[in-house]
Amino acid sequence: LKSATGQSHAKIIFWGEHSVVYGQPAICFPISEIKTTVVIEQTPTGQHIQSRYFNGSLTQMPESQTGIQLLINTILTLLDEEHTPFQMKISSAIPAERGMGSSAATAIAIIRAFYHFFQHPLTHAELLRLADVSEQYIHGNPSGLDAATAGSRVPIWFIRGRRPQAIPINQKAYLIIADTGIMGQTGLAVQHVKKQLAENPQAQPAIEKLGANAKAARTLLADGNTPKLGAIMTNSHHLLQTLGVSHPALDKLAGLALSHGALGAKLTGGGMGGCLIALTDTSEKAKKIASLLEQNGAVQTWIEPLARMNHKG
Ligand code: PMV
Repeated sequence: LKSATGQSHAKIIFWGEHSVVYGQPAICFPISEIKTTVVIEQTPTGQHIQSRYFNGSLTQMPESQTGIQLLINTILTLLDEEHTPFQMKISSAIPAERGMGSSAATAIAIIRAFYHFFQHPLTHAELLRLADVSEQYIHGNPSGLDAATAGSRVPIWFIRGRRPQAIPINQKAYLIIADTGIMGQTGLAVQHVKKQLAENPQAQPAIEKLGANAKAARTLLADGNTPKLGAIMTNSHHLLQTLGVSHPALDKLAGLALSHGALGAKLTGGGMGGCLIALTDTSEKAKKIASLLEQNGAVQTWIEPLARMNHKG
């Protein structure tokens, strides 16, 4: 083809960050409004990449971009197109390192764009397997949650090593996502939890309770007691605090949201920075709380109606 486009989107972890690493279930939502788009165009010579981090030849990508470089080389080798010239432009509205899945979304969009460009069929399993090439490089030992959500249009139930399942949402609630502006530190947080499990007797029960909360949330998402859903969100935030992966900025925003009518609030993603999510039952309250959070340090907020999650495309 002369040109091809691949897209993906942001994600949030509703339940299960950290506990998912230890076999507990997680619930993740795709956020389709926040997109990453990759456009590949035919060009006479060269293999050129343009993104917010880099503008130049594929062979000259800096070390921070090695995961992407590895992914592109893997795709080109698989498709027997190592020497085909192309020009790639990566544009992303997903803030980096905030637990919103920006690296997995970039990987998914790149894979889709290349397979489209070379008119090669792509199965969902192959898409996730390839996304794992860069995710493994960037994150060490990822659970696969990010890539699974970046590749899904609907909310998913995820257990490490198993096929993600779509889950129905029957909730009129609204989710506020608030970015603290502080880089999340997923790698460090994952290491910290591992250490806690060896040293802190409260850590293992916290992981198990996080799993139990995810199971309860799945039922509540399908049949609707919003205040109860909010309460187990806040409880999960406390469990994540016990594991030592929160941050004062996240705790401050959570406290503010809860004292102004949010039904629940918790950190989302790896933690130690990144984003907070809070739940409300009306869009008016969601707007009010989102602007309050912005006045108190959040650098950006988004509002997502849960009911719309089932019908995204
Ligand atoms: O920070 P994020 O959104 O990449 O999420 C990390 C989720 C963890 O459970 C902490 C790690 C993992 O590999 O699942």
